Amino acid sequence: MKALILAGGFGTRLRPLSCTRPKTLFPIVNKPLLQWTFERLAKNDVTDAILAVNHQTEFLLKQYRIPRCGVRITYSRDPPGKPLGTGGPVKKAEKLLDHDFPFLVLNGDIFADVNYKEIVKIDKKKKAVATIALHRVEDPTRYGVAELDENNRIRRFVEKPPSETAPSNFINAGVYVLHPEIFKYIPENRAVSLEREVFPTLAEDGKLYGHMFDGLWSDIGEPEDYLEINKTLLNPFDTSQKFEERKKVEVKNPVAFDKEVSIGEKSVIGPYTILGRHVIVGKNVHIRDSVIFQNTSIGDSSSINGAVIGEGANIGKEVKIGKGCIVGDHVKIKDGMALAKKVSICPAKEISESVLTPENII
Ligand code: GTP
Repeated sequence: MKALILAGGFGTRLRPLSCTRPKTLFPIVNKPLLQWTFERLAKNDVTDAILAVNHQTEFLLKQYRIPRCGVRITYSRDPPGKPLGTGGPVKKAEKLLDHDFPFLVLNGDIFADVNYKEIVKIDKKKKAVATIALHRVEDPTRYGVAELDENNRIRRFVEKPPSETAPSNFINAGVYVLHPEIFKYIPENRAVSLEREVFPTLAEDGKLYGHMFDGLWSDIGEPEDYLEINKTLLNPFDTSQKFEERKKVEVKNPVAFDKEVSIGEKSVIGPYTILGRHVIVGKNVHIRDSVIFQNTSIGDSSSINGAVIGEGANIGKEVKIGKGCIVGDHVKIKDGMALAKKVSICPAKEISESVLTPENII
């Protein structure tokens, strides 16, 4: 079985961190999202994956050298400067995909603990051209919500409905089983949206089905969701991440530290904190509810609460970073600065004045 992974979007909602890496390369508990996906594909005996990318994403993906878990990779590129949306890449990869069997299509920016074998099995029982994994959420108003009949046939999707009018709590989870007939539904050489153009036509033709799954699901499209899935995957009962006691570092589990992390004495790390590879934390630093990407250093007596700090950043001494702040790669923040709530800073900026209101520093 083959899978096509949609990985060529621009991730505008995750800027500035997505200026320097595609969403598929965002670390989820210190492992790129795409590696989680490869592991899940391998577990479900999917042997071949086609990565639908643009030129920049392909370049960055090749640099990262993610373990592929035995999955064979082929790249299918959108034409330069012409993003094909979520449907166009399926048509573009027509020659690389199977014409006798269904195949999987996955939104690359979604963490979805779907049993692919099971959804394929369910799909076989229906006369479907597409079967969509559906996930139950408390608040469906941010998503595409499925209206289903008693046979799990999807009558239609309602985009971002007000809660009182939502036809169900089941949302499009970004995992699809598609049959080769799908190629007839997708126009060639232009951007096509699967969700807005192709699925509504299939629903009208009675060829669109849903499959509800219970596993963990998160769309990392927004910074809050990205932090949340990292927190969820930290096991609150895992106390293995003790730091050298003699250094008098206080670790409040759950936390995750990658290799070569160093932490100065009297620092308090956690709960819900992830430190990437070779993160250097000074003395008396407080970090909680945050993700710190690799190769970043944090000076003495600084505090970080509810933020994401990019790769190779240099945070000075006595710096305060508040909730919802996103600091781009290689940003340098001078000693004594404060970033209040929801400040985001573009890559490689130098911050020498405090920012006390929500702002994008470009
Ligand atoms: P935002 O700009 O923040 O909305 O993100 P996005 O466009 O990257 O993501 P969206 O949720 O809209 O897309 C769902 C999936 O399709 C993601 O995995 C994207 O990488 C992928 N995708 C979106 N647009 C394109 C495209 O034009 N070409 C390709 N190859 N993939 C795409």
